[in-house]
Amino acid sequence: MSGRSSGLEMARAKMADAGVDPVAIETFAHYYRLLEHGETGMIPESSIEPVDIESLADAEVADDVAADAIGKTVAIKLNGGLGTSMGMERAKSLLCVRRGLSFLDIIARQALHLRAEYDARLPLIFMNSFRTSADTLHALGRYDELAVGDLPVEFLQNKEPKLLADSLKPVEWPKEPELEWCPPGHGDIYTALRGTGLLDRLIAEGYRYAFVSNSDNLGAVPAPRVAGWFAASGAPFAIEAVRRTPSDKKGGHFARRKADGRLVLRETAQTLPEDREALADLSRHRFCSTNNIWFDLRAMKATLDARDGVLGLPLIRNEKNVDPADPDSPRVIQVETAMGAAIEVFEGARLIEVGRDRFIPVKTTNDLLVLRSDVYEIGADFALTQIAADVPYVELDADHYQVVGEFDKRFPEGAPSLAKASSLKVEGDWTFGHGVQVVGDVELGGRGAQRVPAGEVLSGDASGSDA
Ligand code: UTP
Repeated sequence: MSGRSSGLEMARAKMADAGVDPVAIETFAHYYRLLEHGETGMIPESSIEPVDIESLADAEVADDVAADAIGKTVAIKLNGGLGTSMGMERAKSLLCVRRGLSFLDIIARQALHLRAEYDARLPLIFMNSFRTSADTLHALGRYDELAVGDLPVEFLQNKEPKLLADSLKPVEWPKEPELEWCPPGHGDIYTALRGTGLLDRLIAEGYRYAFVSNSDNLGAVPAPRVAGWFAASGAPFAIEAVRRTPSDKKGGHFARRKADGRLVLRETAQTLPEDREALADLSRHRFCSTNNIWFDLRAMKATLDARDGVLGLPLIRNEKNVDPADPDSPRVIQVETAMGAAIEVFEGARLIEVGRDRFIPVKTTNDLLVLRSDVYEIGADFALTQIAADVPYVELDADHYQVVGEFDKRFPEGAPSLAKASSLKVEGDWTFGHGVQVVGDVELGGRGAQRVPAGEVLSGDASGSDA
């Protein structure tokens, strides 16, 4: 047995000891072998062509079709990630958005409102990881009415060992054994839905469609109109796409594979260096993913069953430190897959272009500041409506604002008004007083800790010294 394959055996044994679902262990083994063989998942430009897609704005969806479809839909929120890029070690959805409401509160209330309006069952179920479950359930405890019948409000995704980057053996970290494990990316949703028995249960209870989205995207409301479009399409699987903008240049996009005509998602990591220019060409590859997906529960079950539970998605090799907070801790590989990549598995999968109102992701504290400001209004239905003419570009000094705890200290009285801002760039260590207003393009600079006084209107090209 080579050193490498014994790494797989060690990982398998560790997962079995921890009681991980046997299908999840086999799924992990599948990806481990790909990793071992140096699989890169590259998608050359010459193998794909651009896609043309229909738009939700042009789709005709009758009201009764929409109402019927939402009545057969279950909404699932991906909530297993830790928001590590914002320095978090808990679910990002626990963060406060506004008026004491967290992402979780808003998501729960959006669903409760839709249930009442459409007289729909519309279960709302969170996919948590072993790291996010307890906090999330605690926070949802105030919504007694959230659970539908006997259905749970969460299911747990699987866990897998982090692998030492040099030997691919499971890492040992006795200081904090929990850090030896990671969730296998959101592509694990299919394995977890099947493995927990939830997929079968939902089908048995008469549900037909799943709408899955990130818990950090408050634009991802389980909208009856989109449900109606999906139901009428008869497709097994669909993803909501948005038009790429200059800030999405470096990110992934949809394309069609020439070999079999299937839709694929090409991520930056799957692009060859010589194809980087084509990747960035917004007139060629026009659409990127919102990670809002719809699938037919029965088609998903049939496909998973036919493949013994392993969908076979492209591998994502994610290299990190075993303790994300300790840059000197050993380098490890996390074997991951992405949910949207499943589009290539389904013949007849569809894309639909939606507005940016369905895609308001919070990946950084810059995004969080916009969300906490007055750029969007939260309506009686708890959906977000953009009030500002444009969403401002925000760039806060990474040294002082990247980590949520540091960011919060510098906006102790809440976010400034950004409704009339075009851009806000902050360099240095600025603390904002109550009721600050940003107008036009504003840049703050300078050294040392400084303060923007309460009620200040920062406008035009205001600079650090005169703020
Ligand atoms: P991202 O991949 O954007 O990661 O997840 P993240 O957790 O938000 O942020 P970083 O990279 O750690 O900073 C998109 C969505 O998928 C969920 C996240 O909770 C988020 O809602 N997710 C991610 C899972 O549910 N499970 C995973 O294994 C990974």
